[in-house]
Amino acid sequence: MKKIIIINGPNLNLLGVRETSIYGNESFENYLGKLQTNYSSAKIDYFQSNIEGELIDKIQEAGFTYDGIILNAAAYTHTSVGIADAIAAIKSPVIEVHISNIYKREKIRHNSLISKNVEGIICGFGLKSYELALKTLI
Ligand code: DQA
Repeated sequence: MKKIIIINGPNLNLLGVRETSIYGNESFENYLGKLQTNYSSAKIDYFQSNIEGELIDKIQEAGFTYDGIILNAAAYTHTSVGIADAIAAIKSPVIEVHISNIYKREKIRHNSLISKNVEGIICGFGLKSYELALKTLI
């Protein structure tokens, strides 16, 4: 059984409540339940933090044992050399996901510091971006 972890960064705990015209009405917990049911051949773990160092700790911890990491680093995508370095340091493949199409949005969101260290990027398909990443990993 493939072991996959979804790691969500800052403010993604507010999915379903936060800026719903961009991020939709569904909570991540609800969406995750459906993913776990529909992809029961995989073990899908989940971690969310608003704190950069906790995300780095989790990437380091997961990065030598999981078959894949689906990472939405949220705002840290655009700022965190530390998260980019953590991805470079580990063995597990990382797929970068974004719910919104970051290239359709403000210029500050067009630059991802982590993209150069990931296997691939999926963005702009709403929560379905996570499912597309999962399908790629399993
Ligand atoms: C996001 C896009 C980021 O620019 C933003 O800071 C987020 C969410 C997305 O999933 O579309 O918090 O990563």
